[in-house]
Amino acid sequence: MKSLITILFCSFLMTVSCVTTPEYSQYASENPDHVYEATGKNGMVSAAHPLASKAGVLMLKKGGNAVDAAIATSFAISVLRPQSTGLGGGGFSLVYNAGKLKSKKGTKVFDFRERAPLLAKKKMYINNKGEPISFSYRGTDVGDASVNGHLSVGVPGLVAGLLEMHRQYGSLPLKVVMQPAIDLARNGFPVYSGFISSIESREKLLSTFESSKVLYLPNGKPPIKNTIFKNADLARTLERIAQNGIDEFYKGKTADLIIEEMERGKGLISKDDLLKYTVKFPKAVSGTYRGYKIVSMPPPSSGGVHIIEMLNLLEPYDLSSFGQNSPKSLHLLAESMRIAFADRAKYLGDPEFVKVPTSGLISKKYARSLAPQINIKKAGNSNKMGPSKPFDYESDSTTHLSVVDKWGNAVSSTQTVNYTFGSGVVVKGAGFILNDEMDDFSKKPGFPNAYGLIGSEANAIAARKTMLSSMSPTIVFDSNENVKLVVGSPGGPRIITATLQTILNVIDFKMKLLPAVHASRIHHQWKPDKIRVEKDELPDETLDELRKMGHVIDEGSSIGDVQAIIKTGGIWRGVSDRRSSGSPAGY
Ligand code: DON
Repeated sequence: MKSLITILFCSFLMTVSCVTTPEYSQYASENPDHVYEATGKNGMVSAAHPLASKAGVLMLKKGGNAVDAAIATSFAISVLRPQSTGLGGGGFSLVYNAGKLKSKKGTKVFDFRERAPLLAKKKMYINNKGEPISFSYRGTDVGDASVNGHLSVGVPGLVAGLLEMHRQYGSLPLKVVMQPAIDLARNGFPVYSGFISSIESREKLLSTFESSKVLYLPNGKPPIKNTIFKNADLARTLERIAQNGIDEFYKGKTADLIIEEMERGKGLISKDDLLKYTVKFPKAVSGTYRGYKIVSMPPPSSGGVHIIEMLNLLEPYDLSSFGQNSPKSLHLLAESMRIAFADRAKYLGDPEFVKVPTSGLISKKYARSLAPQINIKKAGNSNKMGPSKPFDYESDSTTHLSVVDKWGNAVSSTQTVNYTFGSGVVVKGAGFILNDEMDDFSKKPGFPNAYGLIGSEANAIAARKTMLSSMSPTIVFDSNENVKLVVGSPGGPRIITATLQTILNVIDFKMKLLPAVHASRIHHQWKPDKIRVEKDELPDETLDELRKMGHVIDEGSSIGDVQAIIKTGGIWRGVSDRRSSGSPAGY
């Protein structure tokens, strides 16, 4: 049946352009067939689109390792979810080498986050009255300049990061790992509803820039569900990168197209910025929790530091006896989140520019000293500070992928263009969206960003500095140092709390991975001082109990989109969140 559909579909494509190899043509011919759970003995990929997971598994089947699979999945997802990630974005990867990859056993961090352009200035997004400025493109005002248009773009790092991972650990040729993405861009994929709603959510912005409008609003509207979405410019860009390597993006034709785009919209990124881009390799942060080892993303992300800080705060409590998502457990979670996010606002920033007290924040001793701040019966009180005006939020931007192979190697990687469709600017002739990661800096102390996060001097803008992130790719090891859980999520600050709750559900509440990932989540980020819950998820009685303890409850849209893998009884089990369109694939 499947092959019949393939043939019918390909003959439909033939009338347009079906120039792909048979092996990959099936990607374009399949409708995304979602499963929330998959098992495999030889490897697993959990990613936010079924065709991206399959691209990774194909590499494993070709004899490739977890890094080959992660790169194939990353390039594929950048084609399939341009609202979340892409060549114009950046990210972080944790690569665990079980001893079978080149170089030393252990976890290596790849920081390929965007960097502030050389011309960036501390107060570039506020006027002399201290108010945020708007971005204007050819006479059209598109709103807040740190989130919309050319000025919001940080120097992209995704291509450098993925190619560096390939250079250090890849075993298959670059052309092979990039081929699924090239085919998906050239031959297209079926339009899905999340893609349409993401375009709709930024329709006004996307329609301002001709290159974005042509691609995402053909005939003035988003493409129609289940029609085939193609991006020939992106296919050519990917092909040039597969052919010419890293120089293509940072010095070659693609670099020229980025610079031309910057000139069109008076953006800041120069040739020099692209030439000077480097991937960094900070040391992973690690902690322990009830006998497990937690390894996660260090600064310039706040994610790993605060996951470990919160786990340390929670360890003295017998959460399992309180019950999963019981008022008592949720209260303790919220209190530990409050404490961690208050620290985030004060201390976290790019460690190459400010001194971040990482080892202090993740120490058990520090958690012990904070313990008296938590009253087991009563909500704390976050100090009042500055106005907060977060955007309404849907988890449609940023993406996480988890990958393991038969040798026990693992990759946990979170990648992003920041807000949905980033800056909204597609590089003309190159087919990819540019990020709006500059909004992750604190444009003014105490002033909230798009996620309502408040920062301080530590995260102020400076040339070449890396903006603070919440992305938390994490790997949990058992007491024998074997990979137990690979986990991460999108969701701005909710990344940290979604990842934390998945870990707690597995370790404390002994839940199987599917319910652990699908369980309802909460979020507290110190300010605003309220517990964010997912609408219509927790029982009214639970919410009433929390209110009685003094918490303010804020119901909103879903929290995170976790993609995770666990090892149980010698089998890998991959799970995708129910909150989006992800689907794992095993081998
Ligand atoms: O790095 C960060 O923390 C943000 N730029 C991530 C944005 C994000 O997760 C958007 N999500 N749904």
